[in-house]
Amino acid sequence: MEICKLEHIHKDYRMGEIVTPLKDISLTVNQGDFIAVEGPSGIGKSTLLYVMGTLLQSDEGTYTYGGKDVSKFSDSEKSEFRAKKIGFLFQDSTMIQALTLRENLIFTQGVGAKKDLKKVDELLYQFGLEDRADFFPHQLSGGQRRRAMAARCLIHEPELILADEPTNDLDEHWSEEIIRILKEQAEKGTAVVMVTHNARWASMATRRLRLEDGILTDITE
Ligand SMILES: Nc1ncnc2c1ncn2[C@@H]1O[C@H](COP(=O)(O)OP(=O)(O)O)[C@@H](O)[C@H]1O
Ligand SMILES: [Mg+2]
Repeated sequence: MEICKLEHIHKDYRMGEIVTPLKDISLTVNQGDFIAVEGPSGIGKSTLLYVMGTLLQSDEGTYTYGGKDVSKFSDSEKSEFRAKKIGFLFQDSTMIQALTLRENLIFTQGVGAKKDLKKVDELLYQFGLEDRADFFPHQLSGGQRRRAMAARCLIHEPELILADEPTNDLDEHWSEEIIRILKEQAEKGTAVVMVTHNARWASMATRRLRLEDGILTDITE
């Protein structure tokens, strides 16, 4: 089943010189897809995820999610959409500094949503953070924080996970573990779009795409 669809998406940045990270992007993401997006640094991979996460509006083209044109959503509809449907695992993701790790996860389950404390504990355990539950974000190491972000990205059972170089700051063991967990999520029906530089992690995906010159090329072997 289709989750979302990009059709002829074009995005420029106009800050002095014009940069065109996305020239003509078309991509359909289905339930259960595990897509790796590769490409050189500075080429536009993060920009693509921002558009898919509705954090950035494209200049041209259409982005539909669940068959609906996302550009027609109001700002509050977009926030609600993001909070419910999308799991963000970004470089610059942050947690709420005044809340402990456990409280951050509970918060992300959604204001007014039924709190599933068992799931919070399960995820903390899965990411090796059970003894860090009551720590504040600043008390975590870089790698622990990234694992915490991964746990937070899954806590509300998103339909679409957008992961931007999710293994940064992680050692071999946890890199492998994060990729395994993302793959497992996809097998359960979640759609995962992951940006990575690493050919080994990309080869775990079901579809491999390369972004260059503003277009996506399918390089699945
Ligand atoms: N907000 C912005 N304003 C202007 N230029 C930007 C902005 N964000 C990114 N860029 C530029 O767009 C290009 C693509 O950036 P990005 O999507 O972050 O690439 P990648 O994730 O592949 O490294 C880069 O040249 C970057 O400097
Ligand atoms: Mg990037």
